[in-house]
Amino acid sequence: MANTPKILAFSGSLRSASWNHSLVSLAAKAARDAGAEVEVIKLIDYQLPLFNEDTEATLQTLPALVALREKLSSCDGLLISNPEYNGSLSAALKNTIDWLTRPGVEGGYEPSFTNKIVGVLSASPADSGGIRSASHLRDVLAGIGCEVVPEQVTVGAAYQAFGEDNQLLDATIADAVVSLAHAVVKTIPE
Ligand SMILES: Cc1cc2nc3c(=O)[nH]c(=O)nc-3n(C[C@H](O)[C@H](O)[C@H](O)COP(=O)(O)O)c2cc1C
Repeated sequence: MANTPKILAFSGSLRSASWNHSLVSLAAKAARDAGAEVEVIKLIDYQLPLFNEDTEATLQTLPALVALREKLSSCDGLLISNPEYNGSLSAALKNTIDWLTRPGVEGGYEPSFTNKIVGVLSASPADSGGIRSASHLRDVLAGIGCEVVPEQVTVGAAYQAFGEDNQLLDATIADAVVSLAHAVVKTIPE
């Protein structure tokens, strides 16, 4: 591969024992194994205030915002595992996306979701595995110009899906995570 693909990976959960963080970390490892450079972050470390057009101009230098903008601008792809909250995206994830789609004042930042290659995952205690949140996330990402790969992983009954080492116990689901990660890496243009 001529240029090493750069991928940013995170979950939409702020919970310390998040299953979605475990899931996206497995996808990140698989993407690394496929040759990508992957940074895994936690949104709890980059908390943004609720987006408000009245105050956004005064918040442009927030360290979390500056850091997230830089990370988004410098990656080719994203791996996102989103918890399902009331049938949709977590507020933390949607708020982060909303902030990152806003241009900076005086050209300070150009929103850069366009053409990002994205893999979507979800984990939930329900049998459905958060598939509604995954579908909504796909729609949001497609609407802001991302290319979401067709592969998708939803892990149901998450409370019994991971072993003590945070590996997936079901080999079929584990393979699906690897396939999704490889699809993202392969789809990123060289
Ligand atoms: C406000 C709220 C709404 C929720 N709604 C759903 C839901 O619609 N579907 C679902 O499968 N789980 C739902 N859950 C359960 C989450 O899937 C569960 O808390 C999960 O552990 C969150 O992911 P995490 O482990 O990555 O934090 C909800 C949880 C909260 C706090």
